[in-house]
Amino acid sequence: MMTGVRLLSMLAISLIIASIPVNGYAHEPSGQHETTHDTREAAMQAQHERMENFRSAAQTLCDAIIRNDSRMTMEGTEQLRKSLEGHEKDVPHKNRQHAKEFHALYVELGKRTEKMKAAIRSNDLSKAAASYGQVLAVCAACHKKFRD
Ligand code: HEC
Repeated sequence: MMTGVRLLSMLAISLIIASIPVNGYAHEPSGQHETTHDTREAAMQAQHERMENFRSAAQTLCDAIIRNDSRMTMEGTEQLRKSLEGHEKDVPHKNRQHAKEFHALYVELGKRTEKMKAAIRSNDLSKAAASYGQVLAVCAACHKKFRD
């Protein structure tokens, strides 16, 4: 009699255990949501890398001007120019409604970089130094309005 009760309760317990779902809670289905999320992540990553390249170019340029090294200044200018490629996909972090102005600042950055290049080509490093300030002014203007 005792063994029968024990057997029954053991059976009941194993049935309860077996009914607990192995995976716990169901996960959110991954689909469209994830794809757009990934695309946005990739664009943000590209923008972030662009900024790192800008920073590295600006540092090269600063060093180059201090050392009066025109070849290095040329390298920095080229690095800065190349870092601008693909900026059309970037998005402001704030003031998003002013996206036109945001992209215009990238264009302006390109123009000022060309001016700086011209100054270096004409072997005028003090003019290049002044142009460098003009380049940094664009970085600062964009950060002030569009970076959070
Ligand atoms: C058209 C707008 C724009 C211009 C021009 C711009 N930036 Fe930025 N920058 C941003 C935004 C937006 C962020 C914040 C988002 C990010 O890091 O991707 C940022 C962030 C940064 C960061 C921080 C990255 C980090 O680690 O958080 C650095 C460094 C930087 N910029 C350097 C520069 C330099 C140097 C220049 C100029 C040569 C420049 N930026 C020009 C918009 C701009």
